Amino acid sequence: MAVLVTGGAGYIGSHTCVELLARGEQIIVADNFYNSKPRVIDMVKEITGKDFKFYKADICDRSSVENIFRENDIEAVIHFAGYKAVGESVKEPLMYYKNNIYSSVILLETMKKSRCKQFVFSSSATVYGIPKSVPITEDFPLGSINPYGSTKLIVENICRDLYDSEPDFRIALLRYFNPIGAHESGKIGDDPNGVPNNLMPIIMRVASGKLDKLSVYGNDYPTPDGTGIRDYLHVTDLALGHVRAIEKVRKEVGCKAFNLGTGKGYSVLEIINAFEEVNGLKIPDFIAPRRHGDAAECYSDPSLAKNELNWETKIGLNEMCRSSWNFAKSQIN
Ligand code: NAD
Ligand code: UFG
Repeated sequence: MAVLVTGGAGYIGSHTCVELLARGEQIIVADNFYNSKPRVIDMVKEITGKDFKFYKADICDRSSVENIFRENDIEAVIHFAGYKAVGESVKEPLMYYKNNIYSSVILLETMKKSRCKQFVFSSSATVYGIPKSVPITEDFPLGSINPYGSTKLIVENICRDLYDSEPDFRIALLRYFNPIGAHESGKIGDDPNGVPNNLMPIIMRVASGKLDKLSVYGNDYPTPDGTGIRDYLHVTDLALGHVRAIEKVRKEVGCKAFNLGTGKGYSVLEIINAFEEVNGLKIPDFIAPRRHGDAAECYSDPSLAKNELNWETKIGLNEMCRSSWNFAKSQIN
């Protein structure tokens, strides 16, 4: 029996494949390389010394998904495949609704037909919209402030409705906070195609000289230094959250959401300072206007994941900054 990992060539998916393989899980990976590169698959094999089946497939293509299920004995699915750029989702909403929602429906329909009932979904802290307070617990009100966020909320609702109608489904909705960092080997990391829009990938571009300066989006938030506060967690810790979620859905029916974060917030300036100090580099920055739709503070209460998944983060901010640069500098050519 194998775990199907969709989007397994991507940033979080590739790190999760490594951790699953390291624990003796059999995996099958599907990705269309929309936002990743084929060599990531070789890197995952190199890091782990293990082989697995890979399908270059679009999860929106029903016949490809059905074929994967026909050719393999799939016990559970971890669904990472999706588009994730908030700004792009505002400009191209249909592209986001189609890819993120349709892929999930096709997968769930195929799983139902194949009697595969264990599903782990990549949700996001974005489903809390602008949170009313921090730290955020899973029972906070949900809402979306952009099409990307709407797609995550809609897929969560699809999962809840599916579970209500089919109570033998076992679904974990993992609400990630802000993953950064890279594998300790330096062989895989965050390497998006095109122009990045998240803080750490932009810091990497400044550090490698591809960008002159970092825009700090606002220093007039009601936070100690005026810049936005987020819950950054190491991608390897996040990957381990998926290993625990698979163990959970193997044991129990249900459809439950879990925050995956550290429970601690850092400001933009704290991230820049930590990065500069750990790597001995200077990141020139300037204060730019606030970015539309950004919350002042967003960090998790991760106690539900601790209690029910037996998961908590272990890796600190310095290692997040060190490993991010260790990977990014190896990509400069
Ligand atoms: P990523 O873009 O690095 O990985 C996604 C992978 O899915 C890519 O390899 C891409 O090629 C693939 N893909 C996209 N559409 C596909 C399709 N139709 N068929 C097959 N493959 C497809 O992104 P990531 O950072 O690894 O994020 C993984 C998931 O986690 C996404 O669903 C994202 O929305 C969610 N998430 C990410 C973050 C974050 O900060 N990175 C935060 C919260 C939630
Ligand atoms: N920031 C800057 N300059 C930049 C980029 C970001 O100052 O060039 C600031 C932002 O204003 C924010 C912080 O850095 O205060 C983090 O921004 P990111 O774009 O890295 O992350 P967000 O918290 O805005 O959003 C990310 C993902 C969303 C996801 C959310 C919660 O992009 O998809 O985390 O998981 F929903």
